[in-house]
Amino acid sequence: MRRLKLAAINQKQVIDMNSAHRLHDLYSQINPSFTRPEPEVLAVLKAYLADYDRQSVESLASRLISAVRSEPGRKQAFDAFLLEYSLNSEEGIVLMGMAEALLRIPDVATQNRFLQEKLAEADWHSHLSHSDSVLVNLASTALLLSGKMEDRIRHVQEHRRQIFDGLFTRLGEPLIRSAIKQAMQQLARHFVIAETIETALDQAERNSSYRYSFDMLGEAALTVEDADRYYQAYLLAIETLSSAAKPDLFGNPGISIKLSALYPRYEVFQHRHAAESLTDKLLSLVKHARTANISVTIDAEEAERLAMSLQIFANVSADPTLNGWCGLGLAVQAYQKRAMPLIRWLTALAECQQRIIPVRLVKGAYWDSEIKRAQENGWDDYPVFSRKAATDLSYLACARLMLSHPESIYPQFATHNAHSVAAICCFGQNHPGFEFQRLHGMGAALYDELLSRHPELSCRVYAPVGQYRDLLPYLVRRLLENGANTSFIHQIENSAISIETLVRDPVEELSQENNHPLVKPSNLFRPQRKNSQGLNLTDLELIKQLHQDLKPFFQQTWKASPLVAGTAGTGKSIPVHSPFDHDALVGHVVLSTPEQIEQALSSAY
Ligand code: FAD
Ligand code: 2OP
Repeated sequence: MRRLKLAAINQKQVIDMNSAHRLHDLYSQINPSFTRPEPEVLAVLKAYLADYDRQSVESLASRLISAVRSEPGRKQAFDAFLLEYSLNSEEGIVLMGMAEALLRIPDVATQNRFLQEKLAEADWHSHLSHSDSVLVNLASTALLLSGKMEDRIRHVQEHRRQIFDGLFTRLGEPLIRSAIKQAMQQLARHFVIAETIETALDQAERNSSYRYSFDMLGEAALTVEDADRYYQAYLLAIETLSSAAKPDLFGNPGISIKLSALYPRYEVFQHRHAAESLTDKLLSLVKHARTANISVTIDAEEAERLAMSLQIFANVSADPTLNGWCGLGLAVQAYQKRAMPLIRWLTALAECQQRIIPVRLVKGAYWDSEIKRAQENGWDDYPVFSRKAATDLSYLACARLMLSHPESIYPQFATHNAHSVAAICCFGQNHPGFEFQRLHGMGAALYDELLSRHPELSCRVYAPVGQYRDLLPYLVRRLLENGANTSFIHQIENSAISIETLVRDPVEELSQENNHPLVKPSNLFRPQRKNSQGLNLTDLELIKQLHQDLKPFFQQTWKASPLVAGTAGTGKSIPVHSPFDHDALVGHVVLSTPEQIEQALSSAY
């Protein structure tokens, strides 16, 4: 009996060792894909979709789109507004800029000066009577009038500034700018469910067709005070949600957390401190959530933070107090080339920890900045795909992978794209349970339609809670997303775009001759010159290697002296210490004397 028990323990240890090796192995496969060439990654992804039933997917997607488009009175003023002022028009960019800047400018005087300049800049006239929406046309008229008025005011001001200054302030400010500020605030409110978690929960309880995950607005904390404030907001949210929680974990409203909100130096160069502090804070929140039966999802942020977030996620989920609990999940961005290996690692982690991990698959909301950062840094390639169809393809391949591991992953598909939704419905027909997710203020018509046709499906709403002052980065991402003319949510509103175009298979789209990847960051300035090459300092393995390579230099000291006509100068030497560690001696330097400089000059002529 005892021998049997020992054998069982040994066998379990072997399995544990095997899965730990496998886990380590799979983890080491994530980062090499960071900037892998797009065609190489896509070849692997395409293989995943070789046998998918394109016809069924296209036909379900078409039915959903035509139902959404034909719903009377569905089109909200907000959608019509964003369609009219899309990001490919100069006015659209001015509007997005206004919304963004108004949140950022703290004082009224500067807000007014900013509006004055922006309003006169654009051609609002060309938007008049374009839209079917009365509200959009009214907005265009208002913008046109205010632009003209500002122009006039500016003209007058240039000549008779003093006389008209008072008049301008009295007439211009209350009538125009405050209306525009209110309109912008309205735009912002579209994306926020409520200012407090109590009101948010109230609203959620009134709409029983959807599940909820609340995001307490706040990210990229810059001070300890901000980070503490965001932490307290999450604590309060868990406490409030616990009062309404029922036994069904995934039926309950959950919370979504951005790690950047909880620590002010969540940066690669601070990764040890950041990982330590964030592990503690997150673990504390997650323990409260477990007690309250509230699920927690860690949002995906910038690509450079992925490795740190995985470390923190693995640390927290390995804590014995969370054994067997399935409420801690992670968002994965399909636009990153690392998405597939990352999901493979998550399945192995779940296996190792003997629990199910909820994985929220998103396409990714930081595309523009990821592209810019790779170009600035002169990386070999981009960490994200450079074509929209490539991201769509990656999304479907990742979805398929997630659905093929029901023993390890609880799939949560966050998308507003009818083609992606239809593909998942087809892939997941025999799956024991997954859910869709959408953002508050987006995709409601699509999911109302889907859920009415398929009441067995579930959808969760990601609902931001908080105040105007914490909304800015979230709002900018939503405006970029809604205003981009390649975005599905933008295209579904545009009846000039046919349903056939909207439901096109991404594999087919990628095979179009003119659909090339974006020029690589290293070739950005070709043919004039090569971009300066940067190291990927967000790669923790590379940083480790650099530290290793630098070690011998810490053992060595240097001597620098003027070299004049081939002869090293002598004289008084002064010690030089490391700028980051004043106790470490780098070496000594002998400074040039005036005579040596004269001598150098004369030997140069
Ligand atoms: P689509 O219009 O089909 O796709 C738009 C997306 O395609 C863009 O957002 C971008 O990812 C990608 N794309 C656009 N142009 C290109 C291009 N030229 N090359 C390559 N790719 C391109 N985002 C995060 O980053 N982190 C999160 O934690 C997160 N959480 C979310 C939670 C929920 C519930 C939801 C619904 C969304 C979340 N998002 C998150 C936002 C999400 O990334 C966007 O809403 C999503 O990308 C929009 O995709 P779509 O399928 O709805 O629309
Ligand atoms: C964002 O904040 C929804 O997490 C996503 O853009």
